[in-house]
Amino acid sequence: MNAQRMATLNVDGKAIELPVYSGSIGPDVIDVRSLYGKTGTFTFDPGYMSTASCKSSITYIDGDKGELLYRGYPIEQLAEKCDFLEVCYLLKHGELPNLAQREDWNKRVKRHTMVHEQITRFMQGFRRDSHPMAVLVGLVGALSAFYHDSLDINNPEHRVIAAVRLIAKMPTIVAMAYKYSIGMPMPYPKNSLDYTANFMHMMFSNPCEDYEPNPVLVRALDRILILHADHEQNASTSTVRLAGSSGANPFACIAAGIACLWGPAHGGANEACLRMLEEIGDVSRVPEYIKRAKDKNDGFKLMGFGHRVYKNFDPRAKLMRETCHEVLNELGLHDDRLFKLALELERIALEDEYFVEKKLYPNVDFYSGIVQKALGIPTQLFTGIFAMARTIGWIAQWHEMIGDPEQKIGRPRQLYVGAARRDVPTIERR
Ligand code: CMC
Repeated sequence: MNAQRMATLNVDGKAIELPVYSGSIGPDVIDVRSLYGKTGTFTFDPGYMSTASCKSSITYIDGDKGELLYRGYPIEQLAEKCDFLEVCYLLKHGELPNLAQREDWNKRVKRHTMVHEQITRFMQGFRRDSHPMAVLVGLVGALSAFYHDSLDINNPEHRVIAAVRLIAKMPTIVAMAYKYSIGMPMPYPKNSLDYTANFMHMMFSNPCEDYEPNPVLVRALDRILILHADHEQNASTSTVRLAGSSGANPFACIAAGIACLWGPAHGGANEACLRMLEEIGDVSRVPEYIKRAKDKNDGFKLMGFGHRVYKNFDPRAKLMRETCHEVLNELGLHDDRLFKLALELERIALEDEYFVEKKLYPNVDFYSGIVQKALGIPTQLFTGIFAMARTIGWIAQWHEMIGDPEQKIGRPRQLYVGAARRDVPTIERR
């Protein structure tokens, strides 16, 4: 990288020069890597409020404009013109596939949809009432115990096979987690179906009854997958990169990402949002909950509102809102109690001074929970669907990191505020 200009920093009267780099779009960055060597000080940025942890050419977000680009393409166009597997190809390879590439890619993914039969026995070790995210963390991590021929991260072929396996097997594993929780036999993929229709088949068919995928509903779920496919250096992606920076295998890294995604401030928000709507229960109680969300002494937050990066409407939320209407129309659920409640919450929050001033708009999870519920997906599985979608983003980012010659093990430093050196007293003196 060539520095466009230099920034001067004054530490204890000593001025040092730090290179400033420009990306293709977005804010410039100040390279502070030499700071400790030159001044003996670190930067301090818990939560990475002003820190770019890597360079990347996969996804770009302009939070003020409400813009999201995958490899330069606006999310609105991708959601309209592509299916999820094409988006996976784009994120992984950098370009959209042509017809032949798309056919080849789809075939490749389909060839890997089944999981090792022994995994079904591994699954039976879980309690039936386990949270699906607990099952996913365990099963995805365990894939590295089953696929020894794709663990060498220095072998490009291994890396590609591991990537394809993860994309292909995630729907099977997510559907297995669901079927297991309701005591149904493990589902098998049907490779004559497209990726998302196949997932719905595994979720909703059983050995006695087939499932006829409804194209409107399949498209809605496919859109959820596209909108969640990547989101630059969010918490779970950074977790995957950090885990991968030590040379850990891709299955272990993705399992780490799933664990991070589970939290309610991240991927767990769609589940938390639906539970919140259920708790509110009725439109008449919305003002009470808005009041609680604004009260500093009340830990309650409006789930599905706010975002670290988007300080304008989340573009994914706009698309999801549209999809929400399409699905509810298709299923004749427009008078659905929870949807009405969600719209009222959205209306009040968008007008309320607190939310307007803090730029707290509904995020994608606000609507995706309602859509998933309408599709018949149980609330506990919402974050699992998010994990299935984000797997490609994690993989693309992991690949990019492995191929980056500047890549080093991630090792932040700290501002130590504990006891200074002291001697261990004898037990009588403690
Ligand atoms: N309800 C009420 N107040 C809120 C909310 C909310 N949902 N979100 C932020 N605030 C307030 C917050 O209390 C703070 O107030 P003050 O300035 O008086 O201290 C201010 O807004 C700034 O918030 P913050 O927590 O400092 O912002 P952040 O960037 O650290 O957090 C967030 C972003 C998404 C974690 C947070 O908005 C939140 O917890 N939202 C609810 C959970 C949620 O919907 N998460 C899904 C995120 S989108 C999916 C994904 O990408 O994973």
